[in-house]
Amino acid sequence: MAPSTPSGTPRQVTTVADLRQVADAARAAGATVGFVPTMGYLHDGHLTLAQRSAAECDLTVVSIFVNPLQFAAGEDLADYPRDLDRDLGLLATTGSPLVFTPGVEEMYPRPMETEVRVPGLSSTFEGVARPTHFTGVATVVAKLFAMVGPCRAYFGEKDFQQLAVVRRMATDLSFPVEVVGCPTVREPDGLAMSSRNVYLTDDERRAALVLPRALQAGADAITAATQDPDGVRALMAGVVAGEPLARLDYMDVVDPDTLEPVAAFIPGATLRLLGAVQVGRPRLLDNLGVVVPHF
Ligand code: PAF
Repeated sequence: MAPSTPSGTPRQVTTVADLRQVADAARAAGATVGFVPTMGYLHDGHLTLAQRSAAECDLTVVSIFVNPLQFAAGEDLADYPRDLDRDLGLLATTGSPLVFTPGVEEMYPRPMETEVRVPGLSSTFEGVARPTHFTGVATVVAKLFAMVGPCRAYFGEKDFQQLAVVRRMATDLSFPVEVVGCPTVREPDGLAMSSRNVYLTDDERRAALVLPRALQAGADAITAATQDPDGVRALMAGVVAGEPLARLDYMDVVDPDTLEPVAAFIPGATLRLLGAVQVGRPRLLDNLGVVVPHF
């Protein structure tokens, strides 16, 4: 059973058995379960997901687990920002979630022999720079879905490719989970919130704004009725090129479900602009939805 906690702090469980007991008991009593998977070092984007789950579901489970499987050698697994006390304090403001904080031993009691791969959606964009990343994400999310059980699971659209991979994985494997994509939460100046923004120096933080600026320039061009997808790609890349502290990885215009680059603008189509740039230490990701106008 979940240990009791002092009032003002969320209930916390660290074992799969305790998590299952609370979630199963809630469902048996007729309650709905919402789930927000995170790697901690929470920001308003995560808290918005937890609030939405609390508004829509009777019990919200928030997991905090920095998943080694989704980091390649040389990435920031050891340095990834962590502050559990701070996270628990922030979550206490979002209702009374059940917080699942397993250790690596609990999640991976033996070396994993099984992996969950969604190769088509995982091999482009982020998958080029991080070829093993989405297999690590899909594998841990599949495990978490199996642990939490039937639920609505809330993911930010900020990691748009991750959301596409998770949706496809949940559908293909018939998880009793409704995956809910939620709008990106931004700083007042437009930068998408991310736990890794903490790595930016003051100058890099200013330079990072080039990414939302480039995406907005692309969206504006489409809504102004440009007919040329490659022109929009070049326009966005040109905006990034104007910022000396930013190194362009990709800027593209894609179908929001398949993530295939589009070859033409069909009036009424909903598209996604995707971008990634390196500014100092972090790779910054962002994206924007846009509807092609009727000309
Ligand atoms: O987006 C994240 O924080 C992680 O990739 C997730 C979904 C919690 C899996 O570790």
